[in-house]
Amino acid sequence: MSTNTTAPLATIASLSAYEGQVVTLRGWLYNLRSSGKLLFPTFRDGSGTIQGIVPKAAVPEDVFETLKSLTLESSLVVTGLVRADSRAPSGFELDVHDVTITQRIPDDTPYPIQLKEAGVDFLMEHRHLWIRTPRQSAILRVRATIMRAAAEYFDTHDFTRTDPPILTPNACEGTSELFEMDYFGDDKAYLTQSGQLYIEATALALGKVYSFGPTFRAEKSKTRRHLTEFWMIEPEVTYLDLDGLMDLAEGFLTHIVTRVLESHRNELKVIGKDISKLEAIIAPGHFPRLSYDEAHQMLLDAHAKGLIEHPHTYGDDFGSPDETYISNQFDKPVMVHRYPAAVKAFYMQPDPNDPTKALCVDVLAPEGYGEIIGGSQRVDSYDLLKSRIEAHNLPMDAFQWYLDLRKYGSVPHSGFGMGIERCVAWICGLEHVRETIPFARTLNRIYP
Ligand code: 4AD
Ligand code: MG
Repeated sequence: MSTNTTAPLATIASLSAYEGQVVTLRGWLYNLRSSGKLLFPTFRDGSGTIQGIVPKAAVPEDVFETLKSLTLESSLVVTGLVRADSRAPSGFELDVHDVTITQRIPDDTPYPIQLKEAGVDFLMEHRHLWIRTPRQSAILRVRATIMRAAAEYFDTHDFTRTDPPILTPNACEGTSELFEMDYFGDDKAYLTQSGQLYIEATALALGKVYSFGPTFRAEKSKTRRHLTEFWMIEPEVTYLDLDGLMDLAEGFLTHIVTRVLESHRNELKVIGKDISKLEAIIAPGHFPRLSYDEAHQMLLDAHAKGLIEHPHTYGDDFGSPDETYISNQFDKPVMVHRYPAAVKAFYMQPDPNDPTKALCVDVLAPEGYGEIIGGSQRVDSYDLLKSRIEAHNLPMDAFQWYLDLRKYGSVPHSGFGMGIERCVAWICGLEHVRETIPFARTLNRIYP
């Protein structure tokens, strides 16, 4: 079998530019149906899938026989005529002329992931192969766009990207969730939980900055929202107050959803996401803003009406069912601000009108996806920050440099962090964050 070298190399995603032409595709056999003297192989090439038509009478016999017995996920190069077909998911079908096998998977070691339903444990164990299926590939494409759009928003709004270290001498969020490692014998190092403390320093150098990278939490929680390794994007801005921070979060999320809708309606269909829910995000109107006190009252009312099981206790953080109830009251992400300082991080600026509250915001995604963004105005007084570090039993030595930022030209400043995987889970409508990242790291899994 010879590959037709004159046919231009194309990708399945770009076939609309080749209608009526013979092209070469490099891909894999995704599925195969046959009915007598007709074969219907489905090819995938990473950019999409397309159904091929192979009538026995129309192709050389070896092409027909090769395809007829070909094992699924064998790699190949195929040439054929691109024909528009409105019933095909991609809009096209391929009249196969020729095929060259790159690697044929032997019959006795078939591809382990079958098209039938497999349990999620099995699929996670074979994640390196599971990502080849259309739904998983579509999720990864949407993830890439979310990451690009997130960075693009800051790049086009005068932010400078500054990369914080991953190996750090101190905690940023809870000390109970730190991955600890030995650093050349004498010192301990920790995998970063957030770049925030470092980008506070770069913000004081550059004004508007952001960081974007992997972060780590030794979370003992086995929930559908928690990973031990995830990607966070974090802006930090000098002279920005809480209201300005909420404006920033709103513009940022609107941009991301706009970009996803621009390029991924097909993928969202494959994934099974209700697109109208995303269109509501970018429709005119602001994201609702709710104080902690207002959210608390909303939960008490809901409990009185029997809409939620447990009454919310004033002063406590919101549980998952609380967040779900609150977010379900709105079509857009809801920004809950001014939580009790006692349930929030040490670096948050107290509200001057009620110092028991922190000038912070959690953005809760619609449809019960919970917190996707957490942020705050930062303590800018040296004395207050020092007493907070003491009160939280944090090692003062490791925070000297961070205190310096309040000693030398301190200014009000604010920032937030968004976990990419939480955002992907929400935008794609996924049950669990493990499907939002190529290789999820959780309490129970570090393979493959
Ligand atoms: O709310 P968090 O802990 O805030 C911070 O880390 C701040 N230092 C950020 C800042 O102000 N610059 O985390 C921020 C976001 C959460 O809203 C969530 O989206 C995500 O990070 N996140 C996780 N995602 C997946 N798995 C986990 N275990 C996560 N923990 C936090
Ligand atoms: Mg948080």
